[in-house]
Formats: sequence, structure tokens, C-alpha cells
Amino acid sequence: MYLLRKPILALSASSSVRKLITRLPLTRDVVNRFVAGETTADAVRAVRDLRAKGLQVTMDHLGEDTTDTAQADATVAAYLELIAALGEAGLADGAEMSVKLSAVGQALTGTDGHAYALASARKIADAAYAAGARMNLDIEDHTTIDSTLQILKELRTDHPDVGVAIQAMLRRSEQDLVQLTGPGSRVRLVKGAYNEPAEVAFQTPAEVDLAYVRGLKTLMAGDGYVMVGSHDPRMIKIAAALAEENGRGTDTYEHQMLFGIRADEQLKLRAEGKTFRVYVPYGSDWYGYFTRRLAERPANLLFFLRAMLTR
Ligand code: FDA
Repeated sequence: MYLLRKPILALSASSSVRKLITRLPLTRDVVNRFVAGETTADAVRAVRDLRAKGLQVTMDHLGEDTTDTAQADATVAAYLELIAALGEAGLADGAEMSVKLSAVGQALTGTDGHAYALASARKIADAAYAAGARMNLDIEDHTTIDSTLQILKELRTDHPDVGVAIQAMLRRSEQDLVQLTGPGSRVRLVKGAYNEPAEVAFQTPAEVDLAYVRGLKTLMAGDGYVMVGSHDPRMIKIAAALAEENGRGTDTYEHQMLFGIRADEQLKLRAEGKTFRVYVPYGSDWYGYFTRRLAERPANLLFFLRAMLTR
């Protein structure tokens, strides 16, 4: 089934497939398994539920590859509204905003997308840190990494605590990680969810897993805060062993998983005393996020197909 990953990611980029999937009446039910809802109120409700279980959150207002400034501005406004709503509900403290820079300007054409994304990200970071929350930059396809890491650097001059995701599957990441292990640096290590060519990325699951372990070793041996973004039981076990080997307490690293995936395991890790953060996507622009989830796990695809057949 792993062989289906690349074809699914490639197929999902087609606009006619996008139209087909987003118009299927059943899709909404299936999407709800992975997405916390469409509105700010839905997002706040999800945060309240997760916090009641002792889980921390990182919030993703869905959207990516935005090519017009009005849409980029609307995404910034959505984050600001969410931060305010979490503040009013007494839930902002310790929450994190996960931001895809391509949703807030980086992918603009005919405008300086890099500068636009930096200005947008600054607005979100300023509001988040003023409310007692924090921010993390998601990482997207390999063409965006230089710009994203530059923006991270700029944001950290005002808010040193801004974090970033790094994809183990990208060959360059081993070098990038070395630059990101200083004191206070927060890094979320993930395997990588994009369809990348062999020149820039490892292609087989075994190669990606080995790269993930190398990345964990670098991060755990460093001085930063480590965020283990994986559902993989082997990676979770290895992270715990490396934390112990490096004399790290549970306040120096955390585990993260996506909303709706391995929810029992999330609670189990929390019950073991680990800090656990759930990545909570919400909003109506769920297509890209959803198709990446279908591509990375056969069971998700089967779940989707079963829902189509039994409807
Ligand atoms: P992988 O998919 O390799 O699965 C390995 C094993 O984990 C499976 O064999 C199974 O045992 C277990 N498993 C996985 N899913 C399961 C399920 N649904 N139920 C039961 N068992 C399951 N990517 C990116 O490119 N940029 C980003 O910014 C982010 N951000 C991000 C944040 C967070 C918090 C997470 C968890 C992930 C991301 N990702 C991401 C996605 C990431 O790159 C990757 O595609 C997925 O996490 C899948 O890889 P895993 O390491 O989870 O396991």
C-alpha cells in the first residue's frame, strides 16, 4: 500500500479530482474524523475538550498555497480571531498556533511573497505571544524551505520561542537540524508529507525512518526543546530511549500527533507523564490536509472507500 502514496499525492493535485472529492456528499462525514470543525467556535470547543483530558494543542487554520492577498489576509484574521476567542475562554495560555506560510502570503505571485508571509506571520506571532500562546511554522514542500527558515530567523528576533517543523525525508534536513539545536530552539521533527523527487528526498519508508532516527539523535543531544511529531510506535519508543540517554526530563521534549489519529495512544502517553500536544486542524479548506492523510496510511484510504460504498 505504501506504493500508493505517491500516486495518491500526485492525483490529488489534479483540479478535476479535487472537484470530484470535495463535491461527494459523503466526504464531509469522513473529513470530520480528521478535522475539528469549520468555525472558530468549533476550534475552541475542540481545545476545551482536549485540555480537559490534559492534552495541549497546536492549532492549524486550514489552507495553503494561497495566491491572492485577500485570502492570505483572511487567514491571518482567522488566527487573530481564534487567539482572541481562546483568550476569552481562558484557553490561550500554552496553546500554540501552527502556521503554513503558503497560506499567509509565501505562495503569492506578482508580489514579494516572502515579505508578505513574514509580515503576516509577525501579526500572528505578536498576537499569540501577547495572549500567552506561542507559534510554530509548519514546513511545506522543499521549494519553500529556505524562505521558511529565513522567516523563522526573523520572527525569532522578537519571539525567540517560535518553533518550526522539519521533515526527516528531505536530504537537506540533517544540516538544517544542526543549525536548530541551540538553547530555546523548538523543533518539531516529522517524517514529511509531500510528494518530493529523489534528488531532494529519501523515497523508501526504511530510508525515511532511519533519517527520522538520525534527526531525533541530533535534536535530543542538542540544547533545544524537541517535539516528536509522529504516530509511529517505534519512533516514540526511540525518542524515549534517546531522551533518557541524554538525561532529558519530560519538560524538555513533547510528543505530538494529529487530531483524530491514535487518540487512545495520545491519552496513554499523557498518562505516562509525557507532555502531549494534539495538532488541531479546523476550517473549510480541508482538501490538501485530508488527501495527505489518505496518502500516508492505507487504513485511512480504506476508511474513505468503505464510507463511499456503504453510504
Ligand atoms: P507513518 O505514517 O510512517 O506510520 C508509521 C506507523 O505508525 C504505522 O505503521 C502505524 O504503526 C502507526 N500509525 C500511523 N498512523 C496510524 C493510525 N492512523 N492509526 C494507528 N497507527 C498509526 N508533515 C509535513 O510535511 N509538514 C508539517 O509541518 C507536518 N506537521 C505535522 C505535525 C504533527 C503534530 C504530526 C504528527 C505530523 C505532521 N506532519 C507534517 C505529517 C508527517 O510528516 C507524516 O506525514 C505523518 O505524521 C505520518 O508519519 P508518522 O511518523 O506519523 O508515521
